[in-house]
Amino acid sequence: MTKAEGRVSFKRVAILISGGGSNMRALVESMAGDHPARPVLVASNDPAAAGLGWAAGQGIRTAAIDHRPFGKDRAAFEAALLAPLLDANPDIICLAGFMRILTPAFIRRFEGRMLNIHPSLLPKYPGLHTHQRALDAQDTQAGCTVHEVTADLDAGPILGQARVPVLPHDTESTLAARVLVQEHRLYAATLRRFATGDRARVDLT
Ligand code: GAR
Repeated sequence: MTKAEGRVSFKRVAILISGGGSNMRALVESMAGDHPARPVLVASNDPAAAGLGWAAGQGIRTAAIDHRPFGKDRAAFEAALLAPLLDANPDIICLAGFMRILTPAFIRRFEGRMLNIHPSLLPKYPGLHTHQRALDAQDTQAGCTVHEVTADLDAGPILGQARVPVLPHDTESTLAARVLVQEHRLYAATLRRFATGDRARVDLT
């Protein structure tokens, strides 16, 4: 085999975070060995996001674009975010606890290749406070969803879901912690499948 034939072409993945970045970390750790993708950028709208330091320590390029100086000007914030993203030239963008709403123009640019993880069994409970809403509704199952990002909030095509039982004494935080463990498994499994070009749904229990 020549050197050129042996060269593997990985899908390039950029990950956007806002906080601790435990999902980002699960994704990065999954992208090794025979995985078809590799992380090329971790970016955050919060320069204090704990995940940025961890990613830099892994040798991954990081970018911090503080949204606050932009006030309500989402387009200007997104233009600043776009610079490191275009530079990293990602094939896939994973939103992983990224808590800014993106404009339709930004989403259109990456249509079909931007994923998000949401802590509910969509279409139930788009938006915030998903675990409390599941408890208030006395649901017996909760979970998380990986979906394609479209201009409608938390409503793009579903690529994967993982379910967890709601236990009798669950609080918002115990339920969130149990769902988060499944988020890490689900996002890694769904990205792996998606990066091969397979959009078949991943279902984990
Ligand atoms: C995760 O539970 C993720 O599903 C949620 O924020 C948390 C981020 O945790 N995302 C949303 O609510 C998006 N609407 P992490 O920073 O440890 O991955």
